Formats: sequence, structure tokens, C-alpha cells
Amino acid sequence: MNQPAHKIISMTTSNTPVTVRTLQSMKRHGQKIAMLTAYDFSMAQLLDQSGVDCLLVGDSLGMVVHGQETTVPVTVKQMIYHGEMVARAAQRAMVIVDLPFPVGQRGVSHTVKIASRIMKKTLCQAVKMEGGHEQSESIEALVDAGIPTIAHIGLRPQSVHALGGYRVQRDADRLMKDAQAAQSAGAFCVLMECVPRALAKAVSDTLNIPTIGIGAGAGCDGQVLVINDLLGMSDGSSPKFVRAYANLRKTTLDAVTQFRQDIANGTFPGPAESFE
Ligand code: KIV
Repeated sequence: MNQPAHKIISMTTSNTPVTVRTLQSMKRHGQKIAMLTAYDFSMAQLLDQSGVDCLLVGDSLGMVVHGQETTVPVTVKQMIYHGEMVARAAQRAMVIVDLPFPVGQRGVSHTVKIASRIMKKTLCQAVKMEGGHEQSESIEALVDAGIPTIAHIGLRPQSVHALGGYRVQRDADRLMKDAQAAQSAGAFCVLMECVPRALAKAVSDTLNIPTIGIGAGAGCDGQVLVINDLLGMSDGSSPKFVRAYANLRKTTLDAVTQFRQDIANGTFPGPAESFE
């Protein structure tokens, strides 16, 4: 099948570190952006080496790594702890760290203070904050302070209780207003979560800055998934928008069961795994 040239180029990865300008240029040239969450050094190193453009230290780490019910309990200290590991591993990918709840709810100067601390401690290249038009003052202040910022609109998991659950966000006026406000405030990218695909495409076509979708269809300028979902590590059902590219849950369970059996029957360790 003949592929448009830009689709082939979009898979090409040089070793040059990804910057805000790289992502903007990718949007201009129709090259799709690949983003994945990462929470620790060894996984971040693998993802970086596999050529993804951005590593997001998402506050989803509260649920995925810490076993919390929602992202609400995640602290700034935890974001810094995981952000440091990921940024240490990344050679090429841009590292983005989430501002956890309730940083954005505590005013503009608090937001800038916490985001600066996160950048200084983790050495990440950007932050992400939930909200659009209601956060435009904070986004503007962050950008003025030299902190590249992504606005997360549509389903905002930190507001799950106010939104009445993890629901598809269908309010077109609100989404467009949030996206436009984020762009005007200086956000370099907008992340849209759980939005009907036609609406997400309309937003993407309207904006000059790239959009990254999760559950927002193929019309966005890039896609993000939670790495544990992509690798099929979850216990239980995944959201509709997830595609599992592996079944690491089964692979891990099989490997560890085999390890236990080998210990029980005395075949581990063998001569090759022990010393003369
Ligand atoms: O925290 C996170 O991992 C996120 C993704 C769901 C995009 O914000």
C-alpha cells in the first residue's frame, strides 16, 4: 500500500533531543507524535531507546504504581521522585511531568512555584496541567516563567468526582473554548482525553499547536497511552481506547510460575547459574 511521504518520515528517529520546536515542526509537517507514560528509570530507558517522542510522568502513577483508586492523592513529592528517575533515563525523548492535584487550584503563584520546583529537581523539559480556560492565567504565568506547558482538557481525571466519573466529554463549546484559551495563554501542546473523534479532530484542525489524544481518535496530532495498558499488564478490564500490544501480565505470571516450579524441583539454579 502506498503511504503518504509524511507517514514514513514520522517513524524516523534521529538522536537529537525532542524539544518544543520539534513537536511544533512535526505538527506542521503532518508527522504524528508518540507519547507514553513512564514512571521509573528502566522502563523510561527502554521507551526512550524505542524512539517515542515524549515520556509523560503522569499522575496516573498514583493508580498504576501506587495502587490508589484515583489520581487525587498523588503528591508533589511523588511526582518529583518518579520524574527524577525518568529524566535521568531519557536521552532523546522530551520528559513532561504532571502537576498533581490540587496545585492548579491554589492560585497562579503557587502553581509557578511548584512547577519550578518540579523542573529544577527532576530536570524535566515541560509540565502538564489539567484545565483549559479556567487555568489560562496559570498557563500564561508558567510560560512567562520559562516553563513549557501542556494543557490537559476533555476528561480531567483530577476532577473525576466533579465530572461524575470517567465519562466521554461531549461539550463541543467547552472543549473548543478550553483549547483556544490554552493556545492563547501560550501552551505548546494540548492533550485531549475521552473526546468524540470528530470533535477532537475539529479542535486539532483549528489549533496551531499540536494536540495529543487519549481516547480522542486518530485526528489528533499525536497519541498517548499508559505504558502498563499498552503492554497488557493490567489486572481487569481496560478502557475502550486502549490497544494492548503485548500480554506482559501472562508472560510475567508464566515466567514466575516456572521459576517457582524450578526451585521446587531443584532445577534452579543449575551448574550454569552457580560457581565451581
Ligand atoms: O496521568 C496520566 O498518565 C495522563 C494520561 C492519561 C494522559 O494524564
